[in-house]
Amino acid sequence: MTTSAFRTIDWRGDALVLLDQRVLPVDETYLTCGDWRAVADAIKQMVVRGAPAIGITAAYGVVLAAREAGADAGPEALAPAFEGLAATRPTAVNLFWALDRMKARAAGGRGAALLAALEDEARRIHDEDRAMCRAMGDHGAALLPDGACVLTHCNTGALATGGDGTALAVVRSGFRQGRVRLVYADETRPFLQGSRLTAWELNKDDIPVRVITDNMAGHLMQRGQVDAVIVGTDRVAANGDVTNKIGTYAVAVLCHHHGIPFYVAGPTSTIDLATPTGADVPIEQRPAREVTHVGDRRLVPEGVAVENPAFDVTPAALVTAIITERGVARPPFEASLARHVAEANGGAA
Ligand code: MRU
Repeated sequence: MTTSAFRTIDWRGDALVLLDQRVLPVDETYLTCGDWRAVADAIKQMVVRGAPAIGITAAYGVVLAAREAGADAGPEALAPAFEGLAATRPTAVNLFWALDRMKARAAGGRGAALLAALEDEARRIHDEDRAMCRAMGDHGAALLPDGACVLTHCNTGALATGGDGTALAVVRSGFRQGRVRLVYADETRPFLQGSRLTAWELNKDDIPVRVITDNMAGHLMQRGQVDAVIVGTDRVAANGDVTNKIGTYAVAVLCHHHGIPFYVAGPTSTIDLATPTGADVPIEQRPAREVTHVGDRRLVPEGVAVENPAFDVTPAALVTAIITERGVARPPFEASLARHVAEANGGAA
């Protein structure tokens, strides 16, 4: 159960209700998606975002597609939905992981039985993520010293997952245990997940948070104000390279320079053993307007080009440890990550 009094993803049986993260922290409004196309659009437009949350949302999207397909429909009727949902955002592997699970569950089903199986699978994906968040919180908090000031990037909390979060689950557990005293939230240009979302949900939980602009992290580290950094991830490659929100790599380099531990928290659904290194991960390019504007206000002269890669890759060598629901993976990551994934799949440790 999340500690936060809002529902990021709320399955109603005939519709999916999503907290509209585009308008936080000013408005808390909910968007009802009645079919898979609306779900795909919501993922693309970042009504809902964060790697685990995207996967859960897409799974419910498949359920809506099965409802629409009708009484005698089989898995073949779901092909456009699987394709459309997979085409929303390319980087977070949880999306493809969840769709693969739904595809496997759909195989051989038809009509009411197919619908029931898919609904059950989507609920399982959601429930399992909640449990994985809790476990990551407990494993990760143990790494932090008492009264630590931690810095985080992007939003990795209840708004990004089915539970308390990935990195923010560690923060929440750590705060309950007295290990976290203060959280510095990078604002996370250009979509501002840190200032808009992380600050919003930590503030709701009365966890002390200070927002900093992304270019302030180095200064704080130089002055000894940061004891640890903890971030989430959208995809961990087999060698331990970590793909996460743009700006993460710069924070990791700063940690290396200042001797500050750089922790990554992500469930095993975010580990992609089929992708050898971070160089093989597709990096989403988002619309220029996210950089040229904040809301309706233009920040960049008309006619000037911008770049907007939404993610970057932190080499494994800069990562102190990766926290999953199975525990704490340490270098060499090839072996430790493979072990966590095998355990999660019920295989040998
Ligand atoms: O573009 P977003 O907001 O979906 O990116 C989210 C992140 O980069 C998070 O750090 C990541 O999904 C991992 S934690 C849930």
